Amino acid sequence: MKLTRLSLVLSAGLFMLITSSCDKGKSVTDGAEAKADRLVAQMTLDEKIGQMSQLDLGYFMDPEQLKQAVREGRCGSLLNFLGVEQVNEIQRIAVEESRLGIPLIIGRDVIHGYRTVFPIPLGMAASWNPEAVRKAFRISAVEASSDGIKWTFAPMIDITWDPRWGRIAEGCGEDPYLASTLAAAMVKGIQGDSLTDPTALAACAKHYVGYGFAEAGRDYNTTYIPEPLLRNVVLKPFHAAKEAGAQTFMSAFNDLNGIPTSGNRFTLKKILREEWGFDGFVVSDWASVTEMVNHGFAEDDKQAAEIAINAGVEMEMATTSYYANIKALLDEKKITMEQIDDAVRDILKVKYRLGLFDNPYTDPEAGKRILDPSFLDHARTVARQSAVLLKNEDAALPLSEDKIASVAVIGPLADAPRDQLGTWCFDGRAENSVTPLKAIRDLLGDKKVNYVQALAYSRDKSKANFSAAVAAARRSDAVLFFGGEEWILSGEGQSRGEINMPGAQTELLEALAATGKPVILVIMAGRPLAIGREIELSDAVLYAWHAGTMAGPAITDLLFGKESPSGKLPVTFVKGAGQIPFYYYRNNTGRPASDETWTPFDSIPTVNPQSSLGYRTFHLDYGYTPLLPFGYGLSYTTFKYSDLTLSSQVMKIDGTLTVRARVTNTGNMDADEIVQFYVRDRVGSITRPIKELKGYNRLRISRGETTDVEFTLTAADLAFFNGRGEVTEPGKFDVWIGPSSEEGLHADFILE
Ligand code: NOJ
Repeated sequence: MKLTRLSLVLSAGLFMLITSSCDKGKSVTDGAEAKADRLVAQMTLDEKIGQMSQLDLGYFMDPEQLKQAVREGRCGSLLNFLGVEQVNEIQRIAVEESRLGIPLIIGRDVIHGYRTVFPIPLGMAASWNPEAVRKAFRISAVEASSDGIKWTFAPMIDITWDPRWGRIAEGCGEDPYLASTLAAAMVKGIQGDSLTDPTALAACAKHYVGYGFAEAGRDYNTTYIPEPLLRNVVLKPFHAAKEAGAQTFMSAFNDLNGIPTSGNRFTLKKILREEWGFDGFVVSDWASVTEMVNHGFAEDDKQAAEIAINAGVEMEMATTSYYANIKALLDEKKITMEQIDDAVRDILKVKYRLGLFDNPYTDPEAGKRILDPSFLDHARTVARQSAVLLKNEDAALPLSEDKIASVAVIGPLADAPRDQLGTWCFDGRAENSVTPLKAIRDLLGDKKVNYVQALAYSRDKSKANFSAAVAAARRSDAVLFFGGEEWILSGEGQSRGEINMPGAQTELLEALAATGKPVILVIMAGRPLAIGREIELSDAVLYAWHAGTMAGPAITDLLFGKESPSGKLPVTFVKGAGQIPFYYYRNNTGRPASDETWTPFDSIPTVNPQSSLGYRTFHLDYGYTPLLPFGYGLSYTTFKYSDLTLSSQVMKIDGTLTVRARVTNTGNMDADEIVQFYVRDRVGSITRPIKELKGYNRLRISRGETTDVEFTLTAADLAFFNGRGEVTEPGKFDVWIGPSSEEGLHADFILE
């Protein structure tokens, strides 16, 4: 047995590994502040308002109007404006024909890839691989910058507990620690090693803040988040993004505890500026300034502009309330020139840091690397690492390409090149997608593949082609069913009330299972679906998300055992929408449930005293456990965890504690395992979660090998906000090292 030693200081450590090499925003020392100051002093009020206005191309009915606005310095930024020639021309007008020659900054949503599309961010989060995620965002920036884009509205780092919310696809899931490490990696990838590099984009941490807590998971809905939850969970990835040097933040659509986040001084001024020292600029979300009128927080657009400016929103996206009202608001002393100057200075600083004044143009040659084979290769790797194996009964997977005579490929997502790209994919093209059907045919040859789509799209309810699908299954050795959701069912404005498999997919699966052939279900979706029944019907289930351009080859690699699945769930899977919210770091409650205290719905006697069901926290129908826990994911091999040790039973509050374990690959295949480290604070001045992730590590472990893993805790890792301040409280703590949030080796220690 070979023993490899790995010493990593995780938790704070992993996070610092990612952030330490980042360009930290550079504050006052980079000269940008002084340059911006000098420029602000020369600007007219109209020019200042121009810098604070970001317009969409659609706003200008006539391209000549746009050129004139830029010439007159009435527009500082554009979004959705693409193409090297176009961008260079509009930039030339800004630089050469406007009075002060201030370059534009062109923004675009590049959320999970530009032309090379990576898995949706929720999928990438399932890889638990910050370095792979960093590289994916670097590739996205290289491609996007070649089209003249210098700023992307990413990373999207909204924590959510609600899979009904369509935008769960765009974020990193439910956990603040995992999301923070990935947020930092994304910022680092987007911004690169130096902001002045032509391939660097400014990152934009969004949506600040709380947007993922939309009531009922209905997009744009109201949010209520108590301050401890806000600080202990929701704000964490944003702070990480700021620490990693994110140059911009986006204020969100939602109202938070009664105050719209685009007019929220507490989050924008007190937390972001005063506590965190953010010194980039804040852009509104699309029309989120004027939507404060709809919120009933402003009487009209003018008051909305006043509220947003006073709260610290420095650039208005898409609407023109700043443009129309700043002068009057100044005259009426509702806002001050100092506020305007501060906003413009922040915007100009970012333009200076990006090197836009020195190098405003895009090199027409830069686009040559679009869809570079190395980019596609990385997209395949990330898609592979993002897929989560949920079930594998009797080692139904992997299939052997040599032994198998034929497979039936069935389902609406087997050959759906646009759907596999997922939501928020403005620039990826279906024609570049390699679908599972294509990849399987490439591997096995056309003759061995019996393809029947059966359902034209995921919501299709027609059973007209069921018999053809069943016939294909009967003449094959195994059934590969590619189901899930079309891309349009998740993303912005695409919330669902039920989160089941749409259309007649489940019935089709029933018909296929009835053939007695092994059924392998591959789910391609933008959210965690409630798939208890579908798991039962299948021999193996691989959750592949919307995995991007290279979904087909990546999934095929896994199905045929070129590599073992290794992703782990970044979000709890619920049994049905009625169980939402269900997240692993919930509090224990006064009445936690257990197997002993829960009676399955169908076993409840009809004549029964009221107290007989235990008076515990569960649903009569769902029970007290989720469908699948956070951190869960199987492999083709097996891993044994052993020898948990602590450096001491007592941790001093100014000291550290190291927790070690051994992980052995006891199966037959070399594979990655994502080792997870959880902590519980037994007693607190506010109730504390039953578990919190404090570290993780994706490790390659060859078969038969054992790896030592260690995680080091500091008091800062155990700190939390208790409503009055940040505290680390002495007392008893539990620790676990294991393969998911529900399994693992356990020990405890005392903090004093
Ligand atoms: C609205 C979305 O909420 C935001 O995420 C996006 O960046 C902007 N539109 C710009 O497209």
